[in-house]
Amino acid sequence: YGTQSINENGHLTIGGVDTADIASEYGTPVIVYDIALFRARANAFKETFRKAGIRAQVAYASKAFSSIAIYEIAKEEGLSLDVVSGGELYTATKAGYPRERIHFHGNNKSYEELEFAFEESIGCIVIDNFSEIDLIKEISEKRKQKMDVLIRVTPGVEAHTHSYITTGQEDSKFGFDLKNGQTDEAFLKLYQHPYINVLGMHCHIGSQIFETESFRFAAEALMTKMITWQKEYDFICTVLNLGGGFGIRYTEEDKPLEPSAYVKEMATIVSSMTDKYNYPIPEIWIEPGRSLVGDAGTTLYTYGSSKIVPGVRTYIAVDGGMSDNIRPALYGAKYTAVTANRMNEPHSTKVTIAGKCCESGDKLIEEAFLATPVEGDLIATFCTGAYSYSMASNYNRLPKPAVVFVENGKHQLAIRRETYDDIIRLDIPLSNVESGEV
Ligand code: LLP
Repeated sequence: YGTQSINENGHLTIGGVDTADIASEYGTPVIVYDIALFRARANAFKETFRKAGIRAQVAYASKAFSSIAIYEIAKEEGLSLDVVSGGELYTATKAGYPRERIHFHGNNKSYEELEFAFEESIGCIVIDNFSEIDLIKEISEKRKQKMDVLIRVTPGVEAHTHSYITTGQEDSKFGFDLKNGQTDEAFLKLYQHPYINVLGMHCHIGSQIFETESFRFAAEALMTKMITWQKEYDFICTVLNLGGGFGIRYTEEDKPLEPSAYVKEMATIVSSMTDKYNYPIPEIWIEPGRSLVGDAGTTLYTYGSSKIVPGVRTYIAVDGGMSDNIRPALYGAKYTAVTANRMNEPHSTKVTIAGKCCESGDKLIEEAFLATPVEGDLIATFCTGAYSYSMASNYNRLPKPAVVFVENGKHQLAIRRETYDDIIRLDIPLSNVESGEV
């Protein structure tokens, strides 16, 4: 993937940096981000919109991996930023993110979180439900402050990995139902409000999607609604946000499409409908998360111990696991791995790579093919850039790994490894009560 290669010592290199050097300098487990690949992915989306002559915003859905350093890179690449909590918004402010490019999502934004968004004068709030409409009205009136908003809807399309289905009514906790009048009701509550400026509509139809039809269907459904608002209320939406969900290759079974395939599909439906109904072409916004950071991330582990279950399998255990990547345990997600310090040796030993957490399900890869394992080997699992660190936990009080960025032969710490003191930083010993400190 990306800038990965093998050097003269038979070691895996990323961004021109030897992974064995990263492991010895920063320890393991460590997540290494190939920043050139992140930039290339961001550019591929932006360029395809530019070439197609479509006004667009590409927002990084930062729930996939949120940190000040990645926000700094996203900012450099001219991306907008999708945040989903006060915590992500706070991180964005600390990264000096241009506030007008921040979009705030979430199905239960608190009063404080919304007020924080107003305080920061962010680019837009994606309104999810009726309670939020009330809160935003209250805050904007109290502050006499304008806010751009998108209305999030569930268009009744469910994207699956290789296909999609349409449902009359989608059972989702997010957004207003497009088919049963909820969306119109939300629009009517918002569009004439003195401080609320409805930019348009938003939907997100799923994640790790490998086909374009579901986006076409969603775009068509949203455009249809926009066209009825033009007819009935003389109201024009200037933004159509079609969310994220573009699939990536975790294993050879996955067949991702080029960004251009999705962009073309979106452009085709939008231009045919705007032509047909003489509607001004809206800006298209998208929100990729996984497809920007997923394959840019590689996790390096050290192999410590093993267990043979005769006739069944050999487990090799590494120094991380579900605490730094819960996706295999949670979703049965599949990954590939290599022996990073012996890349030129045949990878023909079948093993199960297990983590070190006290849970039988803590297996990172059920069936991995590695060089004949030797304790101390450096094991690299690929495509761990999205929803790994961001979903990491301190289960078993394991410290969260370090995160290192590499680019052009240089490496830099982006998140330091947690220490044991970090682990206990919120603990309050009962003995403090006796000493009168509480
Ligand atoms: N926009 C919205 C409104 C979303 O809810 C999401 C993801 C995205 C954009 C970005 O989707 P992406 O391009 O990354 O597929 N934890 C799961 C994925 C959860 C996705 C949640 N929403 C996983 O590890 O597979």
